[in-house]
Amino acid sequence: MTILHLRRARTSLVLDARGPGLPRVVHWGGDIGDLDDDGLRQLADATVPPGVPSSFDEPTVLSLLPEASAGWSGRPGLAGHRDGRDWSTSFRLDGLDVDDIRPDTGRVATDVKVVGVLETDGGHGEPGSARLTVRASDPAAGLALSIEIALDPYGLLTIRHTLRNDGDTAYELRELTPVLPVPAVATELLDLTGRWCRERSPQRHAWQQGSWVREGRHGRTGHDATLLLVAGTAGFGFGHGEIWAVHTAWSGDHVTVAERRPTGESTLGGGELLAPGEIRLGPGESYDTPLLYAVWSDAGLDGLSDVLHTHLRARPGHPRSPRPVTLNVWEAVYFDHDLDRLRSLADRAWEIGVERFVLDDGWFRGRRDDTAGLGDWYVDEGVWPNGLQPLIDHVTGRGLEFGLWVEPEMVNPDSDLFRAHPDWLLAVPGRLPPSWRSQQVLDLGRPEVYDYLLERFDALLTEHPGISYLKWDQNRDLTEAGHHGRPGVHEQTLAVYRLFDELRRRHPTVEIESCSSGGARVDLAILSRTDRVWASDCNDALERLSIQRWTGLLLPPELIGTHVGPERSHTTNRVHDLGFRAATALFGHNGIEWDIASISAAEQTELAAWVGLHKRLRPVLHNGRVVRVDHPDPAVWAHGVVNHDGSRAVYGVARLATSAAQVPGVLRLPGLDPGRRYLVRPVSDVPPPATIDRSAPGWLPAGVTLSGAALARVGVQLPALHPEQSLVLEVIEVG
Ligand code: DGJ
Repeated sequence: MTILHLRRARTSLVLDARGPGLPRVVHWGGDIGDLDDDGLRQLADATVPPGVPSSFDEPTVLSLLPEASAGWSGRPGLAGHRDGRDWSTSFRLDGLDVDDIRPDTGRVATDVKVVGVLETDGGHGEPGSARLTVRASDPAAGLALSIEIALDPYGLLTIRHTLRNDGDTAYELRELTPVLPVPAVATELLDLTGRWCRERSPQRHAWQQGSWVREGRHGRTGHDATLLLVAGTAGFGFGHGEIWAVHTAWSGDHVTVAERRPTGESTLGGGELLAPGEIRLGPGESYDTPLLYAVWSDAGLDGLSDVLHTHLRARPGHPRSPRPVTLNVWEAVYFDHDLDRLRSLADRAWEIGVERFVLDDGWFRGRRDDTAGLGDWYVDEGVWPNGLQPLIDHVTGRGLEFGLWVEPEMVNPDSDLFRAHPDWLLAVPGRLPPSWRSQQVLDLGRPEVYDYLLERFDALLTEHPGISYLKWDQNRDLTEAGHHGRPGVHEQTLAVYRLFDELRRRHPTVEIESCSSGGARVDLAILSRTDRVWASDCNDALERLSIQRWTGLLLPPELIGTHVGPERSHTTNRVHDLGFRAATALFGHNGIEWDIASISAAEQTELAAWVGLHKRLRPVLHNGRVVRVDHPDPAVWAHGVVNHDGSRAVYGVARLATSAAQVPGVLRLPGLDPGRRYLVRPVSDVPPPATIDRSAPGWLPAGVTLSGAALARVGVQLPALHPEQSLVLEVIEVG
């Protein structure tokens, strides 16, 4: 048929769709310019792999769905069968539906059928994207495949496969995973792992032959999910290196894979992990993969984040109002709900400048601790004899928004709901899944369960119009998650999405936070229906620096909840001064999670100053381009946000530990306009770190005026910060 070239921003995707099989990916990476038909043909021909001894007689075609019939002996893109047959496919190209490929954004080398707007869902391929659907079939196997591809205006690529059973009998699907080729210059892999209170731990290693398979079988995204799987050139960093990265947008079981073959091909891919028998396609039925997000950057990890952040910020549903500074009462009161105490917390919050008050776990029937009550979504009459309204009125009367914690998907066996409906669980017949935080998971795939939850939360929001925010928690893995005797994670994940979507449709002004024992449900599918994530239950500022830095690879700061915790962290027992805690929480959707009714007057004054600082800097922090500094001393971390016209920036510098060298060295400030002049100075709204003493470098505290080029290439000498102290610098253009 043809060769296709999709171009957006600085990225190109070239597909050789001359058939007869699935299109070969000729190139995914940097923009290759406006090649004409002949140029595209020559490029496609010049990149065909050679024949090698002791191998197939024809070159292997690596498509977006690798098949053995095309000479691929690595992980297959499709695994499935029809009672032991039709287990291997040879898809033939039936057609291409091309939309919005214009001369300035791409090229179709020869004649193709150009259709109108393509049927896409889930925001895949927003306006301005170059979009393409590949249609293929394997009549002998009774299967049809369509591949939707969109390259958005910022260079973000999304891919979704849809498989349809065109046979007369059921087809059992085991795996359907889109992949993309990556050139051999990518020699290192970076991915993320984690656990409760230590989400997004980076791990990095050489990309060697074999498969690096990151599987999550938690039934939720997981604390250990690799937010992104990144391949890059040797030594790539935040500000340098060429990289290719993928994200699997799915909140159930999923896999993200990097594979390097002895034959020389390398791929990145990701999809859903399906249990045996989970997807059985009847005649005419089809299955959609989760969206695979893919980003190329030649400006290191900051370039990658830039594409993702710009894409997320361009979504119609992206939160655009100033992100309200939040008090969450969890670490202040836990389950000790007392109206007077909560009212005084709200008063103190108002004095400090807080804009949203969130009542956490413990408000509903029987919930005096974490062993009972989940499922009984009625306000506890004993603890709240007059309901939640008196607190809501008090909070909103102060001008604060009111938010409420919920955990819809769960049930405690010690609850009226469980006693009435012990069969409403996701479980294998005859036994309960192992208990986790004394709770089990409701089977939302059952209409009666879904209807009960929809009615309860719809009623809660309708009866309390003052609730403008839900912290939607999910606190356990789905284990042996059976649905009518069959594996149920896939159906559960879709039903949970439906519940989010329907509640949002009915209550469009209510914002929702995605929380899951901290940060165990952070992915772009849940983010398409929520307004922020709770990155971690760990409020220890030292741990948080890392958790926020790596969560920020995918998400812009305004989507990441960052709270100032108590002086002694509840989860690590470490002690930090307020400046360090507040400077860390500054760079996100800012809040407080601390018993502020019991703090000293001096602490209250300082905390109010930090809240004021956040509000003053919020327009930059929540809209600008994120940069992270590749500092040679691993104990010195710096990050910043530069506004889009390059006129202002905010940087945070933190010393994590002592260093072998006495002087920390200069700090280069990347991301500014090289040709403009800037005043760089520590923020004066809050007290400076206690260690900036008489030996501080001469530019402190008044600041220094330098060009963006000098700041990026030379930098400024840092003061001798003590470990676990931070400095916040403000940068202002001076004409
Ligand atoms: C886990 C969350 O991550 C915490 O912030 C808190 O909401 C608790 N659940 C409440 O049970």
